[in-house]
Amino acid sequence: MKDLPSSFNLDPSSFIPDEYDNHIQRKLSNMKGQYLDQQAYAAKLADKDEILYQVYEIKRPEIEGEILHGISIVHPGKVGDEYYMTKGHFHTVLETAEIYYTLQGKGYMVMETPEGNFAVEELRAGRVLYVPPRWAHRSVNVSEDEDLVMFFAYPGNAGHDYGTIETQGFRKLVLDRGNGPEIVDNPRWSPVES
Ligand code: PA5
Ligand code: NI
Repeated sequence: MKDLPSSFNLDPSSFIPDEYDNHIQRKLSNMKGQYLDQQAYAAKLADKDEILYQVYEIKRPEIEGEILHGISIVHPGKVGDEYYMTKGHFHTVLETAEIYYTLQGKGYMVMETPEGNFAVEELRAGRVLYVPPRWAHRSVNVSEDEDLVMFFAYPGNAGHDYGTIETQGFRKLVLDRGNGPEIVDNPRWSPVES
């Protein structure tokens, strides 16, 4: 990790940074319990533990004042009727925001707050999305054949709380029930008991 001003290049054909510190690959097996159709999930996993999305991180110290950033790439595909998506998370420090700039593809950012508000914003090349503090976020690729590629940036001290979403899910799902993407209520959503 350098402590000097720095820059990197994004090859527009792959969107893989020419310099990065960490490459995360999330597979189908990392998404246990997240997809609505659990039978379809099990059948797909038995066939192949596919990579669903990848993140290239430019590391910075995880402290207030720093900005963590990188590239996320969600591949196209579905588990049953549900499009490939990220796990999604709240930030551990809830009062931290995030910015996404979509470089390629199309999809949705599914968001919600602990207070019960929810929002779904369209993601497509050229659009900038601001995720305010307190909003959990999950990106969903609704293209049939194209990667959803985004640049992201968030405060160094934010941290990732995956546990809440793993337990309760998101309120809204993005499904294709034959007519393209539809935003529907998650029948399995349940608020965390407090
Ligand atoms: O911090 C973010 O919100 C992104 O960089 C995500 O980590 C990335 O999109 C992958 O999603 P997740 O962390 O929910 O697996
Ligand atoms: Ni985040």
